[in-house]
Formats: sequence, structure tokens, C-alpha cells
Amino acid sequence: MSLEDDARAELKQLEVIGRLRTPRIVDSAQAPRIVLDGSQVLDLASNDYLSLANDPRLVAAAKAAADEVGVGAGASRLIVGNHRLHVELESSIAEWMRTGAARLYGSGYAANVGTLSALLGPGDVVFSDALDHASIIDGCRLAKAQIVVFPHRDLAVLDEQLRTHAGRRRLVVSESLFSMDGDLADVAGLAALAKKHGAAFMLDEAHAVGARGPEGRGVAAELGVVPDLVVGTCGKALGAYGAFVATTPAIAKLLWNRARSLVFSTALPPMISAAVIAAIGIVRSREGDDRRRDLAARARQLRARIRGLGGHPDAAIAPLIIGDDARVMELSARMYERRVFVQGIRYPTVPEATARLRFSLNAGHVVEDVEMAAIALNDAMSQET
Ligand SMILES: Cc1ncc(COP(=O)(O)O)c(C=O)c1O
Repeated sequence: MSLEDDARAELKQLEVIGRLRTPRIVDSAQAPRIVLDGSQVLDLASNDYLSLANDPRLVAAAKAAADEVGVGAGASRLIVGNHRLHVELESSIAEWMRTGAARLYGSGYAANVGTLSALLGPGDVVFSDALDHASIIDGCRLAKAQIVVFPHRDLAVLDEQLRTHAGRRRLVVSESLFSMDGDLADVAGLAALAKKHGAAFMLDEAHAVGARGPEGRGVAAELGVVPDLVVGTCGKALGAYGAFVATTPAIAKLLWNRARSLVFSTALPPMISAAVIAAIGIVRSREGDDRRRDLAARARQLRARIRGLGGHPDAAIAPLIIGDDARVMELSARMYERRVFVQGIRYPTVPEATARLRFSLNAGHVVEDVEMAAIALNDAMSQET
């Protein structure tokens, strides 16, 4: 069979089982309302938690940098792509996150894959939550370390696994705010267990950095926990693109030498670093606190209005588990017809038979938006046969 024939057959099969994915087209800036496939809709799907993606201050910073230094970095950072703005951004992240150093990557996916495969190898053991993001899973696989998966948030099992799985280096890795469930890991419990068993602790705060904690530093900071490595992305609450690992100077330096997704990939456009520096200023300020407070208030309102939503009471991510793939996509389509966009999430992003509508709020949403979403969902469900 040729590659082309094979691709066609596989597409057909995905269609038959209701798992064919085709993205809709956005034709506006990110905002509480976007133009999606030609219609203006209330957007309850983006990860722009603090509504910064189209903030004039980020846009101005990016424009000024583009005017000065152009759009492309030209090379990987180790060649000639290590722009002054990247170095400035890493310093401001380290200062903000209160770590000795930070290393910038092209994306959160690249950060997880590059960091895990740089720090672990054969003979090492990585303990990973069953619902950890695909980029964590891929990083663990690429590292060729032994992968021990513990049931979601189950610290008793993790304790036992840490007791029984020896290795040269051992690392516990988890998300803090889970991307498809909106629930929180027991970050303090994970840190304590890692310490008890002499393992390192890496925390992926992709959905929490900016959106939670003092100065938006995330869940660990909220609890006074200091992981060995914190991953944060600049493409969600920080409104731009890229990602970072906040860690010690020695680990950050080793990443220059071992993290293949960093070494063998063109650096971020410097204008993006300029935008992220502006975003961090806002995130750390009183205005950042106000935006986080508004976001939490909308999240509580949404959960009060729509029964059955999962996740932490004030988390911006709120899933409604439906189960069936086709049904969830049908509900999403019906809501879109009512000018509300909530993405349906299916396997393999979430475990089989747990397809869900993933409501995702941002600070720019207002009380009436939540009400509109609840009505659209109710209408979509009442249309079901
Ligand atoms: C928990 C988690 N880690 C990492 C990533 C990857 O981040 P990025 O979108 O910057 O590649 C995501 C993105 O969806 C995520 O949810």
C-alpha cells in the first residue's frame, strides 16, 4: 500500500469511529469573542486565561522589537539566535519565579520533551501521573528511562512505587492544574513524597503560571513548595508563545548541552520575547491580581450555573464529561450554531469513553457570557433525541 492510499484508509477509519479532526478557522484576534469559521462566537476554548493575547501593551512591545530587530531569530540560540531579548526574558523569568535560572524553549511541548530527555536516560526511573500531558509522556519515552505511571493523583500508590522502583536518578513529574480536567495535583504531597524517597520533582504549571498564585507564579508558589524544575508556557496565560523551565543554574546550563529540542531548533522570534517580558510585568502587578480574581469569579459562576462541571471550584478549565465521542462533537456543533464555542475533546487527548466539553474561561469574560454559555448548552442538550 502506498503512503497516500494508507493515509486515505486511515482517514476513512477515523471518520467512521468519529475521531477525525479538522480545525476551524479563526479570523480575528484572540478575545472573549472571536470570528470562527466566519461567525462571531463567544470563545470558551482558548487558553488565553488573562486575556493578554491581544493586549495593546504586548502588541506594542512586539511591534517595537520587530521594527528594531525584525521577525526571525535566524538560527538556534547556540548558533547566532541567542538574542539579547531572550537573555533578558530568561533573567526576568528567573527573578519572577525565584529560581536561580530559567531556560527558554520554542514551546511547552519542546520544553517537556527536551528537558526530560536531557535529564534522564536508561537506568533512570520517571514517575508520571496517569493524566500527564502528551509532551511529558513523549519526553519520558524519548529519555528511554523506565516509566512508572501512578493513577491520577494517587499518592498512596506513588509512595509504594517510589519504595519499590530503584534507579540511578529518579524523578516525579506531574501537571499542577490538569489541562483537560481542571483539577489540581496535590503539589505539596508530591513534593513531600519525592523528598522522602530522594527523588527529584518536576512540575508542569502550563495552565497555572500567570493564572494562579502570588504574582501569577503558579500552584507551587501558592503553597510555598519549591520543585526542582517548573515548566511554564508563554502561550497560555502569558498571551504569546514559547515556554520556560525555571530551575537551578547548573540544570539550566546542562540543558544548553543536552536538550535537543533547544539545541536543534531555531530560537523564538525576539519580538515574542519582548511581548512576554511585557506580559510578565502585567501578570506580576495589581492588575494581574485583578484579572486572576475576575477569572476565578467567572469559574465559580460557571460551576454554579452548569451542574456537573468538573475541576477545582475556581479553576478556569471546567470539563463536562459526556463519554461518547460523537455526542460530544454534536453538542459542540449545536452550541456553535448558538454562537458559543466550546471544544469537544476526545481520545487520545483524554482516556477513551471520557469525551468531554472543555469549558475554558478567560479574565475578559463577563457575567452575561457565562449565562449565554449555560443557555446554549441547555438548548443544545434539549435538542438531543
Ligand atoms: C500541561 C501542558 N504542558 C505542556 C503543554 C505544551 O505547551 P505549548 O502549547 O506551549 O507547546 C500543554 C499545552 O497544551 C499542556 O497542557
